[in-house]
Amino acid sequence: VEKKMYELQDELIDHSVELPWNLVLVNNLHPMQEGYVPELTEIQPGYSVDTRIANAARKMLADAEKEGLHVEICSAFRSVERQEQVFGDSMKERVKDGMSYWEAYEETALNVAIPGTSEHQLGIAVDINPDYEKSGKEVYAWLAENAHEYGFINRYPEDKVHITGIMNEPWHYRYVGENAAKEMYEQRICLEEYLK
Ligand code: DAL
Ligand code: ZN
Repeated sequence: VEKKMYELQDELIDHSVELPWNLVLVNNLHPMQEGYVPELTEIQPGYSVDTRIANAARKMLADAEKEGLHVEICSAFRSVERQEQVFGDSMKERVKDGMSYWEAYEETALNVAIPGTSEHQLGIAVDINPDYEKSGKEVYAWLAENAHEYGFINRYPEDKVHITGIMNEPWHYRYVGENAAKEMYEQRICLEEYLK
């Protein structure tokens, strides 16, 4: 699966094109620039994003609240150290459950971006209310139909796992700008496909 995924991504992406900040691709084949830290703005207590997406994120969350939904951010910008911690904690949990280190690494990498390849480190992604048991499903449904109006995309859809390499994450929204988001939403394509 991994080999096929790499082949697909390589077929899909023209590496010679320099992308604007809002379309920068980071995934397990495309690490971010080392040491990069965006200028940050806090949008909820303890949660900051790239200043350039702060208004769009605030407006999206406020409009969801107006619809009677309870939206909470549970992750936004992460430093590389924080991403390492999230990755390490997930591995430790799995090893504790009896997996080998290699199995734990492979499983973790399906859910947590390898440090240096997370959109959270770019500051342009937010995780919203990832709790299926509470109001999660309604929030995800609203986001899936409306986030593009604010320039955000559902970055890891269920039907694109073979391209993104990350399992379905209905809580992870990434900013790409309104035009790109609308196009991806209408064509039901992920960022890798869009960039092609
Ligand atoms: N959970 C996503 C893939 C991340 O760690 O960035
Ligand atoms: Zn996320």
